[in-house]
Amino acid sequence: DQYTAEINAFSPANADELETFRIKFLGTKGIIKDLFEQFKTVGPEEKRTFGKVLNQFKQLAEAKYAELKEATESGPKTKDLELDLTLPGDGFEVGSRHPLSLVRNEIIDIFKRLGFVVAEGPEIEDDWHNFSALNFPEEHPARDMQDTFFIKKNAGKDDIALRTHTSSVQVRMMEHGKPPFRAIMPGRVYRNEAISARAHCFFHQVEGLYVDENVSFADLKQTLYHFVQELYGEGTKVRFRPSYFPFTEPSAEMDVSCTICKGAGCNMCKYSGWVEILGCGMVDPNVLENCGIDSKKFTGFAFGMGMERIANLKYVIRDLRLFSENDVRFLKQFQTEM
Ligand code: PHE
Repeated sequence: DQYTAEINAFSPANADELETFRIKFLGTKGIIKDLFEQFKTVGPEEKRTFGKVLNQFKQLAEAKYAELKEATESGPKTKDLELDLTLPGDGFEVGSRHPLSLVRNEIIDIFKRLGFVVAEGPEIEDDWHNFSALNFPEEHPARDMQDTFFIKKNAGKDDIALRTHTSSVQVRMMEHGKPPFRAIMPGRVYRNEAISARAHCFFHQVEGLYVDENVSFADLKQTLYHFVQELYGEGTKVRFRPSYFPFTEPSAEMDVSCTICKGAGCNMCKYSGWVEILGCGMVDPNVLENCGIDSKKFTGFAFGMGMERIANLKYVIRDLRLFSENDVRFLKQFQTEM
């Protein structure tokens, strides 16, 4: 009876105590073994009652042991979790900014410091804002410079298309306001090109416009020179090559000296040491007049660059498709850039 009470009350604090319990009652030199030894010596009368008690006792001890053993094996873990409030919680994953957002924010930052505001416009444009106002004559081959996705095409003024450049936002801005204008226009643009590492059917541009009295080509060069020093670091060289755009005259393309690999041959510059980053020029007087601005009084410059190109050069990304595939392995690499 004394042992029965002890067994019922027993509650081990750990596995060692349970093992001690097992040895004490169920072990080869334990109490139960001992009782069975004694059992052999009692008379036949008592054997029946004593045997019954003894068996019950043995079963009790064994059941208690089995129950406690199971409890110690599965129990403590949950017990610990419930009690230990100092255990660290599960971490959660932080996202990262898209490289194009990083580049766009940086470009906006630089031009904001120069007093440029940000302007936006629709991605579905009419013929006037995307072409005609920008001095693309009707049926002129210059329109083929940009392979256009037409939504509605009647060969003329009613055409509706996905904008091929954000110059359309410049037109909207000049139509609806009065000079001076000093703005940049970031946004997505569309061109009908086969998708490959080097071309995509959409990409992102940042265009800029500055219109005021006495704006000169020198202002254009200095503004873009400053921009490049900020973006790629002090000492980056620039060079201008003559070019053609219907909406600017004169027009140029600007290259920057490429130091990504410091001559080791990453080939982003095709081993020339220079990479083209933007097109620019003095706004054609026809464009100013089309937008209701007196071209005798005002002059202006405009420029446009592809954000993907800027990001490619900054992060040495060689495949345009990575920007729109949303592969987290690609995106995660920009976690530290936030
Ligand atoms: N709109 C031109 C393009 O998409 C870029 C550009 C903008 C060139 C402004 C000159 C002036 O290629």
